[in-house]
Order: sequence, then structure tokens, then C-alpha cells
Amino acid sequence: IRRIAISTGGGDAPGLNAVIRSVVFAAEKRGWECFGIREGFNGILRPDRYPVDGITKLTMTQVDHIGHLGGTILGTTNHGNPLKFATTMPDGSVTETDRSGEIHAALKAMDIDALVCIGGDGTLTIANVLHQQGMRVVGIPKTIDNDLDKTFTTFGFDTAVAFATECTDRLHSTAGSHQRIMVVEVMGRYAGWIALHTGISANAHAILIPEIPYDIEKLATHLTARDRAGHHYSIVIVAEGANPLGGERVLHEKAGAGYVERLGGIGENLAQELQRKTGKETRAVVLGHLLRGGSPSAFDRVSAMRFGAAAVRALDEGHSGIMVALAYPDVNYVALEEVAGRMKSVPLNGDIVQTARDLNICLGD
Ligand code: F6P
Repeated sequence: IRRIAISTGGGDAPGLNAVIRSVVFAAEKRGWECFGIREGFNGILRPDRYPVDGITKLTMTQVDHIGHLGGTILGTTNHGNPLKFATTMPDGSVTETDRSGEIHAALKAMDIDALVCIGGDGTLTIANVLHQQGMRVVGIPKTIDNDLDKTFTTFGFDTAVAFATECTDRLHSTAGSHQRIMVVEVMGRYAGWIALHTGISANAHAILIPEIPYDIEKLATHLTARDRAGHHYSIVIVAEGANPLGGERVLHEKAGAGYVERLGGIGENLAQELQRKTGKETRAVVLGHLLRGGSPSAFDRVSAMRFGAAAVRALDEGHSGIMVALAYPDVNYVALEEVAGRMKSVPLNGDIVQTARDLNICLGD
């Protein structure tokens, strides 16, 4: 290997820059040159946006100071899947084209031997196809949602939970002063990892996640019982994908990897219903994209840098078509095809759900 490229795809997550830093350092240490593809693969597929520097050289000097910064210096996008590149036609219709050949051609033209793809299930699915088409590719698991299979965790998740916890801690005092119910809506797509970890960490009284269909009557009864027992305020954490009927995973699986329905909005509806049913003043707070911003936590920085270094080691050892994963306390490699398009839900009989139940947190069932 002489030259490698890095791509960051999908929603951003704290730690992306730490991965880039780590990949560049580990590559230069081996005498390899590193390049970054701008905005997922749009640096190649959108010459209108990137007429000259769609693939840019990255050096240790350039990336030395970025490890603690949020976002990604390369940019990212949810709109630039080379396998199904969407173009809006003059009549407003949208056509999807397979433009993966252009990725191979652009990297070949620059003598780039291997690609490091940093992303969630959508990006890793693309990485897997590029590998099957003959490119040397290693994936790195990224998402605040923690919904990627075969890795103990993804980077970005710890930071998201830490910030959601800090926000919820602050809501306890205002909710307590006003004897209110406070509903806190958090991201997480079709998985409840962020909600569950935040709720436990921030001493919530109820947590609603997509994996457990909830019954609003049971939730209202739990909150009313707390009030009668002298606990005059309550904190409810709700995952954006929670649903009284459950089953949103089915929608995700049907739609295929990389599909992101616009979620969110459940917090306000839930707050209104709870106010009606309990008679208690209720307010909703949506944390939304705040969970994706800001500096990565120390844990996410370390995970990100371990993943970056491991990806370069994997390439050096001749691997392709794998994702580096955290098999706590170590890092290992798993086949991309075992990860692509598979979602990791919260296990219902696992310790984390049991812990919530033992803490008398209502899960709405
Ligand atoms: O996958 C990360 C994530 O932040 C989800 O938690 C959320 O549903 C989605 O992305 C939001 O996407 P967008 O940034 O396109 O609104």
C-alpha cells in the first residue's frame, strides 16, 4: 500500500476527527500517503460542488490539532449514496443511478490502493459493495445511536449519552420546583440505546424505547402513583423512535439499510397526552441534534483513535471487507457483510433493561 483515502458518511458523530487524525498518523508512520474524500463520496460524485479539491491530501501536520473537535473536517452527507445516487430531474421526479464505477475510477486515477469508510449501516453497506466490486476497504463503526451490530459500542454514543445526561440533570431542579412532568426526547433512530442509558444515568422515572411498545395508561398510572406517594415531579425520557405499537424496526428492515425516516416530534405529543391524563403540568424538551454536536468524550476519543489505528493495521495485514470493532477490552475485525444492513436493538432480557426495571423505572409496558 502506498496511498489510502478516507471517507466520512451519514450523520456526523463526535469522534470523526479523532478517527481521521489516527488514520493519518498510523498511515504516515508506515510511509503511506493519506487523502480525504469530501462530504461522503460527493467529493467525487459532485464536481459541481468540488471542482478541484474533492479528494484532498491529509498530513499529520494538518490533522494534529483536530482530535478533540466535533464534526468532521471532511464534511459528510446523507445524500450521496454512490450505489443509488439520487438526481432530481427538470420535471421534479427523482432518478437513482449506480455511480460506484466513478468511485473506483477516481481512486484508481490517483493511485489510491485502499479506502477507509467511517460510518453507520448505510456507509458500511456501501463499503461492503465497493469491497465486493474489488476495492480494498476497511470500515469503522460510527453513530451516536449505537445501533451497529458486532461491536460493543460505536464512537459518538458515549458523548451523546453524557450530554443528554447533563441536560436531564438540569431538568430535575426545574421540574421539581414546578412539580411538573418533564418529557425529554432523544435521538436514536429505531433503537433505544441513547434513551435507556440516559434514563438510567440521569435518574429518570420512565423511559420509552422503540423495542418496547408502550401503553400510555400504564405510564400515566405510574406517574400519578409517584405524585400520590409525595414525589411531585417526574422525568420521562422518550426515544424519538418509540411507538405505542412498537414495531418500527420492521419498517427499517423493510426499507433496507441506510434508510432514515425523519423521526422526532413524539415528545410534544406525549407531553400533551400525559398532561391530559395525569392532570399535571407537563413540558417537553427535544435534545435532537445537540446530541451530535460538540467535542467527543474521552472514551469516544480513545475508541475513535483505536478504531483508526486498527483500520490501518488491518490494511497493512492485507485485510479487506472488514469492519474494526470493539470487542471489549480489545479491538477485533468482523466481516462487513455481517454488519451491513443489520441493526442492533436493545435486548429485552439483557442486563440494561433489567437494571432499569430494578430501579423502578417505568418502561411503559
Ligand atoms: O443516525 C444519527 C441520527 O442523529 C439519528 O439519531 C436521527 O434519527 C437522524 O440521524 C437524524 O438525521 P438528520 O440529521 O438527517 O436529521
